Amino acid sequence: MGKVKSKIVFICSNCGHNSAKWEGKCPSCSEWNTFKEEIIREGSRKPASSESWVSKNRSNPVQSLSSVTIEDLPRLPTGDSELDRVLGGGIVPGSIILVGGQPGIGKSTLLLQVALQIPHKTLYVSGEESAEQIRMRANRLGAIPEGCMITTETFLPKLLKDAIDTDPSFLIIDSIQTISTNTVESTAGSISQVRECAAELQRFSKETGIAVFLIGHITKDGNLAGPKVLEHVVDTVLQFEGDRHYVYRILRNMKNRFGSTDEMGIYQMGPGGLRIVENPSELLLSQREENLSGSAICATIEGQRPILVETQALVSQAVYGNPQRSATGFELRRMSMLLAVLEKRLGLQFGQNDVFLNVVGGIRIDDPAMDLSVIAALISSFSDIEIPQDVCFAAEVGLSGEVRRVNRIEQRIQEAARLGFKRIFISRFNQKGIDPARFDIQIHYISKITELYQSLFI
Ligand code: TYD
Ligand code: MG
Repeated sequence: MGKVKSKIVFICSNCGHNSAKWEGKCPSCSEWNTFKEEIIREGSRKPASSESWVSKNRSNPVQSLSSVTIEDLPRLPTGDSELDRVLGGGIVPGSIILVGGQPGIGKSTLLLQVALQIPHKTLYVSGEESAEQIRMRANRLGAIPEGCMITTETFLPKLLKDAIDTDPSFLIIDSIQTISTNTVESTAGSISQVRECAAELQRFSKETGIAVFLIGHITKDGNLAGPKVLEHVVDTVLQFEGDRHYVYRILRNMKNRFGSTDEMGIYQMGPGGLRIVENPSELLLSQREENLSGSAICATIEGQRPILVETQALVSQAVYGNPQRSATGFELRRMSMLLAVLEKRLGLQFGQNDVFLNVVGGIRIDDPAMDLSVIAALISSFSDIEIPQDVCFAAEVGLSGEVRRVNRIEQRIQEAARLGFKRIFISRFNQKGIDPARFDIQIHYISKITELYQSLFI
């Protein structure tokens, strides 16, 4: 056996680029100040301990692609219908799933709940909490089945040995940042540790057919702490998001090797853990009691489902120096663009005003159809004219103030009608193919934001 040598390398914490010297700017991803020093041990790439689970005589034969037969991918239901849907119908055995989210959002709760509900044996590995803490949490969540095994072991070779001995259908790692292995010398949570452990776990899941869930913390700006490389290693990336001060949580699918990514799940955090929200629109709208200026409702599509969400704008005289711009749950740059459109096309001057925008419920909406309701909320607050409670919107707005079509318009209209809205403003370019007789709601087709202004604010 060769002598083990240590070597210092610098690794970019954003993209994983290696360099022999420290650099201010990463030559690969152009981010600044991302290089971290790490010690790599050479000559010990594969210690005997971590090989113990690899079957010695496995065969990966070369074969012609046309001779490969596919059976329907077997899927194991998780007992959580929302999670199953987001995954595309349950978990594929031998797959590896990353669940990312900010600290405190509910990742551990979600996966412990899965471990308790699932009708299969699970091994829950926690490097963050003690066995007693996990038991206390589980007591809040429901009955504890015999098949739910836990360990606080964080040394990977030992942990994989434990997993082989326990033989679960699922292995849950909470979190990947607490696990370490001996092929890399740096501390747990460093980029090379996270990358090495994830790669090892991926081999493990493929070899054994045990499905692996990895919990990973993400940083404030929404990136997975450390390596983007982690996203390449896994089969599925789920993102758990929401505002910690609100009860709603959204589970999004960002990458899926076994299905589509346009599914999402909505949960509500309560004293007994996470509950599935069956009718999100009703919950998100229920707090509206009176008409106030600055509030507008958008019929959005999140994942496959239509949801009605409220946008609130507050436009007020800037008193202290520079006017402020702030947006929560909506992209700030997009709001600035819409403000510029309002100034240019409607002549509304926001230059001396503070502008605040908020999507109610603490959820982030990416749907371009939000534009028209943001525009409506901004005009409403600016002019202090209320929008009637039975009106909603669904359209994108372009730079010249044109109102553009959005996808799945019929689903949006249907949801708005179901919730008792009487009027919906959409793009004229969406008109083709809509049969208005099908919906119990009046549809206004517009092609310019000036038409919106004339209908509601004059
Ligand atoms: P947790 O799952 O620990 O978050 P993460 O693993 O993503 O860091 O959840 C943290 C929050 O959830 C915590 O502030 C308490 C809250 N919570 C409830 O409101 N109800 C519950 O039943 C549980 C278990 C947690
Ligand atoms: Mg946790």
